[in-house]
Amino acid sequence: MQGFSFDTVRQIICAVGSRHQLGATCTSLGMTHVLFVTDPGILEFNLHLDAIQSIQNSGLKVTIYSDVQADPPEAVILAATASAKKSQINGVVGYGGGSSMDVAKLIALLANPAQSQNITEIYGVNNVTGKRLPLIQVPTTAGTGSEVTAVAIVTTGETTKMGVVSPILLADAAILDAELTIGLPSHVTAATGIDAMVHAIESFTSAIKKNPYSDMLAREGLRLLDQNLQTAIHDKKNLIARENMLLGAMMAGQAFANSPVAAVHALAYPLGGHFHIPHGLSNSLVLIEVMRFNLLHATDLYAELFKTLEPNGAGNNTELAMKLIARLERHIIDSGLPRKLNEIKFQDHRGESQFIQKEHLPALAADAMKQTRLLMNNPRPLLEADALAIYQAAYS
Ligand SMILES: NC(=O)c1ccc[n+]([C@@H]2O[C@H](COP(=O)([O-])OP(=O)(O)OC[C@H]3O[C@@H](n4cnc5c(N)ncnc54)[C@H](O)[C@@H]3O)[C@@H](O)[C@H]2O)c1
Ligand SMILES: [Fe+2]
Repeated sequence: MQGFSFDTVRQIICAVGSRHQLGATCTSLGMTHVLFVTDPGILEFNLHLDAIQSIQNSGLKVTIYSDVQADPPEAVILAATASAKKSQINGVVGYGGGSSMDVAKLIALLANPAQSQNITEIYGVNNVTGKRLPLIQVPTTAGTGSEVTAVAIVTTGETTKMGVVSPILLADAAILDAELTIGLPSHVTAATGIDAMVHAIESFTSAIKKNPYSDMLAREGLRLLDQNLQTAIHDKKNLIARENMLLGAMMAGQAFANSPVAAVHALAYPLGGHFHIPHGLSNSLVLIEVMRFNLLHATDLYAELFKTLEPNGAGNNTELAMKLIARLERHIIDSGLPRKLNEIKFQDHRGESQFIQKEHLPALAADAMKQTRLLMNNPRPLLEADALAIYQAAYS
């Protein structure tokens, strides 16, 4: 076996109602003034009230930062960091989807008075030095796994996304409370759930850092997600399905934090950058075509994953691998998500709504090639012409 190293968060609290333990967890980490990082949607649904109450009941001061935007732009991180420094907070809670948790990670780092690096110095892998403030993550989507990953994704410039990757970004604790995900709209449950499945699949087939620990988490994460996604979408208040989705997404997150994602994400990011398609949906739109592209190079691993989902599945490895692809396609159809790029509308620079055109695809392919951090993990080498062919197949 090839040697490996595995990092994850120190404490995971997974229980229905565990948001009420947030104050005690902040106290245990020495926080006295907490910055609570979230987005306007969470406040609108009053999802923050119990958590804020819990922090206040522990006698701690709390300041709310709620201007997080989906696919957070760099400017948001800088504004949030400036306001955090002004309030002299000494701990950070990320509360929401991947966007809020990613912003929380960067604030915990950049608002630390002992930190001298600025954001442009830390993009890429292992460029962070120094320490961050204490950090707790509370996911309200079952998707990104950001609560257990060492990655924060930032939208830089007009259309590009960049990652800050460092074990220093791993939180001190993650709190998983399925009640927080009950109100998720079906299309968000669907898109974020597919994102989590992609994390498990891409981690399991990752070319470089795949290891027995990440494999175990990818297999079990995918099994939980596969078994519970449709129930969570169609029986929204089913707490058992919701908790299994949170657990599955977290396991997939732990897996890909140590055995990283690949071409599905590399081709999904330009869709978010150019057209503001939500991250999970972007993944879903290219997933099937990337898997078809990878099939010959990932046959045995896809087959093994299918066997995890269907232990009695019959057929040779090629047939089982194709059944895995068909099963994911079925999930996408049953989730009610759009399936092809030509179904997607976006706002152009004049603010007018229009459908994605075939003419947009070459720019996407060129941008995908910039995701070298991800493409190097793909089981099959992928060139710009391949990326374009995949977008074309995913178009109509
Ligand atoms: N750090 C990582 O490891 C990692 C991994 C994958 C993706 N990401 C990043 O995460 C972001 C996407 O995160 P996301 O998919 O979780 O979505 P998100 O955080 O952008 O949230 C999407 C929307 O869902 C709403 N929402 C969240 N929870 C809700 C709830 N319980 N009930 C009702 N509405 C709710 C939010 O208000 C928001 O409007 C992207 O920026 C992506 O690049 C990060
Ligand atoms: Fe993702």
